Amino acid sequence: MILDILKYPDKRLRTIAKPVVSVDETIKQQVKDMFETMYEAPGIGLAATQVNFHQRIIVIDVSDQCNEPICFINPEVIEKSGEIQWEEGCLSVPDYYENVIRANDIKVQALNQHGETFELEASEMLSVCIQHEIDHLDGILFVDHLSKLKQKRLKKKTEKKVKML
Ligand code: NI
Repeated sequence: MILDILKYPDKRLRTIAKPVVSVDETIKQQVKDMFETMYEAPGIGLAATQVNFHQRIIVIDVSDQCNEPICFINPEVIEKSGEIQWEEGCLSVPDYYENVIRANDIKVQALNQHGETFELEASEMLSVCIQHEIDHLDGILFVDHLSKLKQKRLKKKTEKKVKML
């Protein structure tokens, strides 16, 4: 099922997601729906917060062929180092791209969609994407990392668009 994606400045995007207690059928269905929604958008990552489901789940696929889906439940960054600047975008902030600086190398621990623990080392685009999506679970948008001036401009631009609808 394709889910609706919340758009900035929707306040619900500021919700802090709760940990998943058990990877049951409801969670598995949610993961499936999130992958479907992400591929359809199309996007390379989606956090549960963006589809108004406030438990800690993210789905990612940064491959060219869209055939390397990774699901992270209760993800935790356990190591990070280095720095990378990447031009980011977000399905919740359409038509807006800006450079953000994040850690280049990270190690993440999470549960997969079968409830099994795994660890993953990531760098570059995958690392950026994971950090961007985990931010969503904490109610943080990539635009929060930008200068106050850029945030003000984006807000103005968004308000204008809303008035035009
Ligand atoms: Ni996003």
